[in-house]
Amino acid sequence: MKEDSAAKNAKNRIDELTDAVNYHNYRYYMLEDPVISDFEFDKLVKELAVLENAYPEYIREDSPSKRVGGAVSEKFGQVKHNIPMLSLDNAYSKDEVTEFDGKIKRFLGYDIREEIDYECEFKFDGLAIELVYKNGIFVQGSTRGDGVTGEEVTANLRTINTIPLKLQKDISYQKNISYIEVRGEVLMDKKGFKRLNEERLEEGLSLFANPRNAASGSIRQLDPEITSRRNLIMFAYGVGDYSKEIKFETQFEIMSFLRTAGININKNIKVVKGISDAIDFFDDIEKKRESLPFEIDGIVIKVNDLKLQERLGEISKSPRWATAYKFSAKQEVTGITGIEVSVGRTGILTPVAILNPVNIGGVIVKRATLHNQDETSKKNINIGDRVLVERSGDVIPEVVKVVFKGKKAGAFKLPDFCPCCGSPVVIDGAAHRCMNELSCPCQIKGAIVHFASKRAMDIEGLGEKIVGKLVENGLIKNVADIYYLKQGDLSSLEGFGEKSEENLFNSIEKSKNISYDRFIYALGIRHVGEHIADLLVKYFGDVNGIKSAGIEELSSKFGIGEEIGKSIFNFFRLNSNLAVIERLFKAGVSPYIINVSISAENSKIAGKSFIFTGGLKDFTRDEAENIVREMGGIIEKTVKKKLDYVVAGGEPGSKYGKVVKLKLNIINEDEFKELIKK
Ligand code: IVH
Repeated sequence: MKEDSAAKNAKNRIDELTDAVNYHNYRYYMLEDPVISDFEFDKLVKELAVLENAYPEYIREDSPSKRVGGAVSEKFGQVKHNIPMLSLDNAYSKDEVTEFDGKIKRFLGYDIREEIDYECEFKFDGLAIELVYKNGIFVQGSTRGDGVTGEEVTANLRTINTIPLKLQKDISYQKNISYIEVRGEVLMDKKGFKRLNEERLEEGLSLFANPRNAASGSIRQLDPEITSRRNLIMFAYGVGDYSKEIKFETQFEIMSFLRTAGININKNIKVVKGISDAIDFFDDIEKKRESLPFEIDGIVIKVNDLKLQERLGEISKSPRWATAYKFSAKQEVTGITGIEVSVGRTGILTPVAILNPVNIGGVIVKRATLHNQDETSKKNINIGDRVLVERSGDVIPEVVKVVFKGKKAGAFKLPDFCPCCGSPVVIDGAAHRCMNELSCPCQIKGAIVHFASKRAMDIEGLGEKIVGKLVENGLIKNVADIYYLKQGDLSSLEGFGEKSEENLFNSIEKSKNISYDRFIYALGIRHVGEHIADLLVKYFGDVNGIKSAGIEELSSKFGIGEEIGKSIFNFFRLNSNLAVIERLFKAGVSPYIINVSISAENSKIAGKSFIFTGGLKDFTRDEAENIVREMGGIIEKTVKKKLDYVVAGGEPGSKYGKVVKLKLNIINEDEFKELIKK
């Protein structure tokens, strides 16, 4: 009897927590307006995980724990779409768009002067998918495939945070929507794409040509865990079949309905009267295009009235009522005048084409990457060839293909000796690499720049130029030397004043307090990007833990493969590397571990509430707040009677008066540092 009531309580709590987590997910990802802190959110997720572990029979279909999970499939099943997923006709000019409008009017028997209401949206450049919701629950996801049959990729789509596992109840009936098929596009943002390719290059894997291919490759992964790491986004643009209780009259109503149901809809939607306003919308968006975080390749213009859509119907698999008005391609043809070989921080040789300068979409492009020997050979590129060059977003322009072969037959060959130090080059997977890791000047400079970079130790002011000068003047030979620079070392360099020296010393000092995963990432161990650095710290703790792991343990623990395992193992076998780490620690670099479960248990501030007022010297507000959260503390934004610590920095704000009145416990920056020390 007792057991029954415990189980009942557990079930109720699981229900409550599932709803709460889904709701906060919706606030965070769809509304971008979270109402609880990340820490509080994690607490709910953890409590749910513990209960679900004890009572797996009560795990709900829409549980957040179902985002990643499920077995790795051998092959995807097939899904026949209830209503075929059509494609769009394209227009590339004002004339073609005007003709699209004309055809519609002729078909409907309208006067040419009549204005049609069009709904304009982004044309997302990703992978089309369909999501099926039954009684509000996400039950199946598939790719478009050939439009009639797609692949069943539910487990992978579940990992995408902008795809809700449960819809919000229907606003008018306050009931779950009984059935709806939502259609949309899965994208990878520009930053994520750049990072993924950088990682792949470093790991010797083939590169994705563009974010669309990367998104498609990520969805068609057999292991959902990999998909979950790819930071994909989904934007919906329509519906397939749906149950009778739902009624729409316009495309705009469909989009508004989806938005209130909790489905991710992009803000840039406009209903316009007449085609010339749709063209204006296109011109506006074209200006915005570069600054968008993801790729679009134009806009889609849709007849807004669904009754008119029905009358217009379709012709050869495209609707008559919609067209994709596409931006002109950001590709141009130009000649290659030379090929330079650059040596990266990990010794990888990259061929870079020097181009006859060419204007591509408003930017003059003079260089384009050829990636590596495999790509150059596959595309058969050499000096003197005329080539098609593509520029997309922030990504480095690349040579797509040869359009006219020049005098030099065959493809350019990377040299056998490093152009930077003359050491022999070895072939390492898809990479050509200079193995002179410790003394090749290109690698030393690169390694130091990487160490100091924003995502690593974040030493502001220690960029390529200054590192170049410091290395060339023999002031630093490895990353530890940064912490042994003396006053006057820098101000003696050309273009370096006392003030800039002082600023640099301040940021060097600040970098000593950094999270352990960033420290490991900063070391520049071959194949260890941010993600693997994070895993290493989670599984092995600190440098000593990682150092004592064997190759087998390193490779098998989180499935990184033997090559990466070996690279980590070898790094910690090299005495010179260990000596550098030792010197870093001696200089006062003391990375902290930010695993919540570990640090919160041992921390003095777990469960204590904090508020910050005024500026701190050694932390930004975000950094300080994150440290508190990571150590299990709670950040408050408004002054309350019950607050454990008020951290007051320089020039405290209006909160300070209230704090004094309430006689709260005020501490300064040094005392705060003492509290967070392990
Ligand atoms: S509507 C019948 N709207 O473009 C209408 N499609 O060539 C078909 N796409 O497979 C879809 N953004 O993947 C529509 N705002 C948008 C879109 C969009 C991107 C893709 C979609 C489709 C392809 C059609």
